Amino acid sequence: SKVYLNGAIVDAGAATVSVFDRGFLFGDGIYEVMARINGRFFYQQAHMDRLKACLRKIDIDYDADTLEEAIPSLLEASGVSGKDCMLYIQITRGVAPRQHAYPPGIRPTALMYAWEKALPDINRGLAKVVTREDFRWSRCDIKMTSLLGNVMANQYAMEQQCYETLFVRDGVVTEASHCNVFFVKDGVVYTHPANTSILDGITRQVVLELCGSLGLEVRLQGVAASDLHGMDEAFLTGTSTQVMAISEIDGKPVGIGSAGPVTRRLQEAFLDLKT
Ligand code: PDD
Repeated sequence: SKVYLNGAIVDAGAATVSVFDRGFLFGDGIYEVMARINGRFFYQQAHMDRLKACLRKIDIDYDADTLEEAIPSLLEASGVSGKDCMLYIQITRGVAPRQHAYPPGIRPTALMYAWEKALPDINRGLAKVVTREDFRWSRCDIKMTSLLGNVMANQYAMEQQCYETLFVRDGVVTEASHCNVFFVKDGVVYTHPANTSILDGITRQVVLELCGSLGLEVRLQGVAASDLHGMDEAFLTGTSTQVMAISEIDGKPVGIGSAGPVTRRLQEAFLDLKT
């Protein structure tokens, strides 16, 4: 398989990065994941804009447009140009002797690779989730490669045969380890506001737009952990998760225990966007 590394498309096995890369030493970098559906990347512009915003947030000076221009040739070289696939993009601060502060004048390391993957039309899967204290830092708006907190939380879910962990910060549900989370109560849709406690997911933004066009009432408000078991519906959103109903939280069923009516409407509307 092929990868894009610092301007060249090379065999994955031959692509090497220094052990002094700050991505390796500090997790000092940011990333994006996009899905290509029916021949085009789903909300590519929004993903690229978020990537650029994250670069600015951590003061990495890098021209993300050159990366975007290289995507077609990477897809071609990877043998996925006509296919549905996923694309991973990562930019780290670069290679320098280890010191915490940003070393001046270093060149960022840019990596991209694609792999064939067809997402289901609508995610009819059901997610069981568990809750756990949000032990991550407080800049969750930065899509950074230091994902240890998210990794540990997802592992915690897997160990309990669950798909996701819902993070609870100061008594309020923020998001999940690699998804955003929505709730429905008495016809009103709730999701945490896009502040520094969550990653403002592209799928989250798309679903909020769909709520608007379906005339659903939305409150950008996190749900208290103590109110979780009174919710009528709950669902996860994310690039590969799409819109997935939550069937159980901490072993107790949510609503009817499968996708409720609002979740289904949003899933159908989401499907229409992709075709
Ligand atoms: N996960 N919250 C977190 C912590 C995430 O890592 C993600 C994405 C989301 C959803 O964002 P989006 O809708 O833009 O994919 C929310 C990516 C896909 C991942 O690390 O695999």
